[in-house]
Amino acid sequence: MSVAPTAVIVLAAGQGTRMKSSRPKVLHAIGGRSLLGHVLAAAAPLRARETVVVIGAGRDQVAEHLQQIAPSARTAVQEEQLGSGHAARMGLEVLDRVDGTVLVLNGDAPLLTEQTLIDFADHHAAHANAMTILSAEVPDPKGLGRIVRDGEAVTAIVEQKDATPEQAAITEINAGVYAFEGQALREVLGNLSRENAQGEEYLTEAVTLLLDRGGKVGAFVAATYEETLGCNDRLELADRGRMLNDRLCQKWMREGVTIVDPATTWIDADVELAPDVTLLPGTHLVGATKIESGATVGPECTIIDCEVGPDATIVRTHAELAVIGKGASVGPFAYLRPNSRLGEGGKIGTFVETKNADIGASSKVPHLTYVGDATIGIDSNIGASSVFVNYDGVTKSRTVIGDHCRLGSDNMLVAPVTVGDGAYSGAGTVVRKDVPPGALAISGGVQRNLLGWVVKNRPGTASAQAAEAAEQSQRNTNADRDAMGNDA
Ligand code: UD1
Ligand code: CA
Repeated sequence: MSVAPTAVIVLAAGQGTRMKSSRPKVLHAIGGRSLLGHVLAAAAPLRARETVVVIGAGRDQVAEHLQQIAPSARTAVQEEQLGSGHAARMGLEVLDRVDGTVLVLNGDAPLLTEQTLIDFADHHAAHANAMTILSAEVPDPKGLGRIVRDGEAVTAIVEQKDATPEQAAITEINAGVYAFEGQALREVLGNLSRENAQGEEYLTEAVTLLLDRGGKVGAFVAATYEETLGCNDRLELADRGRMLNDRLCQKWMREGVTIVDPATTWIDADVELAPDVTLLPGTHLVGATKIESGATVGPECTIIDCEVGPDATIVRTHAELAVIGKGASVGPFAYLRPNSRLGEGGKIGTFVETKNADIGASSKVPHLTYVGDATIGIDSNIGASSVFVNYDGVTKSRTVIGDHCRLGSDNMLVAPVTVGDGAYSGAGTVVRKDVPPGALAISGGVQRNLLGWVVKNRPGTASAQAAEAAEQSQRNTNADRDAMGNDA
């Protein structure tokens, strides 16, 4: 690769009116990253000495976002959105140095690839151009700047609104990605006119200004036009999101992941998958999720910022910030809230919700249970329909269950409470006191049966009739038995 550029300037000051949003356009996201985040990620491998993002509309929101995703990038403020040329000028003003190559990128092109930018920068360096434009041949150029050529030579970029009918028929467009010789750029940016349909300072006017000074201007045609597409409204956002997802699904399939239905499988850009992961339809992998080899996820799962161990199985589950151990099984219909951890070979079953819960290896929470603020040791079993009662209305407290425990169904574990290793509990136990290791905990009164209560208190109901019929049949059986006994 050729020498690193002196600077990358990303233009991100526009409001993006067509988004009809309170959020600036460049903060809209696809594949788990903002449009701006995608552009910065594509440019990162160029290792420019400086990265400057020009902000304006919604600048506080954009600046805050940059703090999170690219804290080393600097910002330049464009107070008024007077056009892309004006924005580039604002960016250039904050640079320490402008010798060497300065790249200028629109902030709304989320599909650009690292490789294209590297090839583009190499092309610029090899041709010693004053300006190189990334262009593309598109099926529908509407709304985009057209590359006007005289033979091979680029002579101008003309915006849709300023184009003659002949120019409007050109299908080679400006992708909004430029490489400049920095000094030359600085000199021409001061001379941009606003004599165009939008009354703006167009960065694209640099073409004619540089040619007038005897500079070389060239265009590098992108291998595929799709990756040069910008994003101006919600329809394009969805379309670009779909394209990005297709690209990510294809990448993971090439790396050995089985994706049964790419059309309904959504994978964020930062997700990591090992070979022999299987994704079933309707699976949405979000954020920094990482899945190890042999795991199967889906159908119908949303997995956000989770770590999933090798050979684990997750079915119809919503999980966030959870760690699922090797060979563990989750779902169907589980809800894992942040800081849930399931050990190797463990199970979180059907209609189970967990939060701040550390469930040890081989332990099982199979059915209809809430586990909040708990530590469960290894090889313990939580009975169906139990609740870890963690909240007294003021404070949340923890429940600690030891190893090899067997808790009965319908237990209420009133925290703070500890159950020792190897302890048992009966069905319906309300565990309010610590249970020593090996003890059986039972609670509640001895069962009493008030005989004949229903017939007396609910006469004539179906229940009373059923009870009377059962009693009658019991009496008949007894009478028959007595009769047989007499015969004998
Ligand atoms: C621009 C190009 C057009 C190209 C297209 C590719 C110009 C004059 N036209 O058109 O040739 O085909 O991109 O998508 O540049 N911005 C600012 N400040 C401003 C105006 C814009 O920072 O005052 C930023 C926007 O945030 C955006 C980028 O510049 O990231 C491009 O602006 P946009 O309005 O989308 O330009 P287009 O009309 O699409
Ligand atoms: Ca645009």
